[in-house]
Amino acid sequence: MTNTLVFAPDTLVRFRNGQILIHTTSSAAPAFVTDNAMLTGWLTQFARPLSAAQALQQVGAADRPVAVAALEHLLDAGALIAAETTGSAAVNDTAAHDRSRRHLRTLARSVYDLACDALAFGPDIERQLGISTGIGLERRLMALLAAVDGLRNEFRTRRDGYLERQLSALGVIAGQQDLRLHIGCGMGMLDNWVNIDIHPAPLAMNVLWGLPFADGSAQCVFVSHLLEHLYYPHDARAFLCEIRRVLKPGGIVRIVVPDVEQCIDAYVANDRSFFGSRRETWDWWPENPTRLEDFLAYAGAGTDPGYLFEAHKFGYDFETLSRLMQEAGLQHVERSEFMSSRHPELRVDEISAVAKARYGDRFYSLFVEGQA
Ligand SMILES: C[S@@+](CC[C@H](N)C(=O)[O-])C[C@H]1O[C@@H](n2cnc3c(N)ncnc32)[C@H](O)[C@@H]1O
Repeated sequence: MTNTLVFAPDTLVRFRNGQILIHTTSSAAPAFVTDNAMLTGWLTQFARPLSAAQALQQVGAADRPVAVAALEHLLDAGALIAAETTGSAAVNDTAAHDRSRRHLRTLARSVYDLACDALAFGPDIERQLGISTGIGLERRLMALLAAVDGLRNEFRTRRDGYLERQLSALGVIAGQQDLRLHIGCGMGMLDNWVNIDIHPAPLAMNVLWGLPFADGSAQCVFVSHLLEHLYYPHDARAFLCEIRRVLKPGGIVRIVVPDVEQCIDAYVANDRSFFGSRRETWDWWPENPTRLEDFLAYAGAGTDPGYLFEAHKFGYDFETLSRLMQEAGLQHVERSEFMSSRHPELRVDEISAVAKARYGDRFYSLFVEGQA
């Protein structure tokens, strides 16, 4: 048996009704389940690298065969791994991040499901949990909230340093003026702009952290197909207020979003080509959605919480977007057209695969500009 063992990073160890259940999220192997009291405490030692031989010495001779069988089972299932095979730190970080992405989707969906279950039960579940476990629902939820909050606080303390390192690598210095910000850049990078998105963008961040630039430091901001990914109205308005803050007086923001009014028109006119030709740009779009499914997903209805950044949370027509921009303090809000900004530096729509998507001679997007 391999010498030093440790639980794989995605191993879940759970205790339920006197049993211990151990499985990983990446392996299809069924959970290892035992109610052997000796194993229950003994196995949890492998939360840290531990020599199998040393661990087995702690077990009486009578229990050794069952302990060896448990170790072999967990090794086969990938729940225990050889500590020395975990590889370089960089490879581990990437692999762990890939797993974390899956866990976060599951977590987002699970929290939603938990809330629905709890509300469906009503007060009865408070009493039942209190009687059977001694800890009612409210206290259990507070513990969950504290755990999430604790992690978010740790993120918060690391944010500034993380942003500073990236800005310095990009050569953006404190107090710099006349910046050009391309926010939600996806794969399309604009030269001599600060291209911003989540990892692995040149400036990787969540735009809801606030923008790491001084007041009045940007001459223009380009945001293509990001706004509909933020919750409306609170997050979307807060984001636009940040844009307004970093724009210098007279600076311009150009916002491109799906044009939901056109989508409604196409639905009412039963224009199947409008919906059908979308697949030419969005090749991952489901093969045969009904017009209504297509429209609602586009407009941000029925989002699964597990989709996180990817899903649309809202849809805009000109009336709604221009009001939101004005609420954020932007002025002279006006409609524009593809590559037709009145400001030459903002004729950049070509960089966006989605902004340039069209059906026939019309674009799917709504192009709007406002001034600080
Ligand atoms: C539909 S893509 C558009 C990409 C590109 N602008 C284009 O038009 O082709 C939406 C982009 O917004 C980014 N995004 C969504 N929410 C975000 C957030 N809160 N912070 C940073 N980026 C976000 C996504 O990561 C994704 O790259």
